[in-house]
Amino acid sequence: MRILCVCLGNICRSPSAEAVLRHIAPQWQIDSAGTSGWHVGEAPYAPMQAAARARGIAMQGQRARQFSPDDFNRFDLILTMDAQNRTDIEVLRPKGNQTPVHLFTDYAPQTGATHMPDPYYTRDFDGCLDLIETCAQGLLAQLG
Ligand code: 4NP
Repeated sequence: MRILCVCLGNICRSPSAEAVLRHIAPQWQIDSAGTSGWHVGEAPYAPMQAAARARGIAMQGQRARQFSPDDFNRFDLILTMDAQNRTDIEVLRPKGNQTPVHLFTDYAPQTGATHMPDPYYTRDFDGCLDLIETCAQGLLAQLG
């Protein structure tokens, strides 16, 4: 299973989702990308990395990259952190491509979350990781 996590900057939410999924489902191939090119080549945001490290999730070596239309061909499933991310990538979908795109929070209906709040703005890095872990468990339960 090849899964791509997508957010805006690719320095907070999607690299964290990538790291958590890799941690709990090492059998899958996981990557992440941003809809913007603002932080290309940068490591994940330092406070986000610190919060992840504190719960045993490593993010070393991850670098931001921008989503490309070919990602639709390279992955089996694309998970976006919010509805805007989804809108932004759908306009890039190659003709005929049918790769499913889902909101990551759809895998945690019990939380009532409709999107992954961005800790770059909320500063709630632990809350973001809690929700990511819940979504990741839900995805794992569904895909097996
Ligand atoms: P992310 O958060 O989409 O979760 O990586 C953001 C990081 C940086 C910016 C926006 C969102 N920014 O405007 O630089």
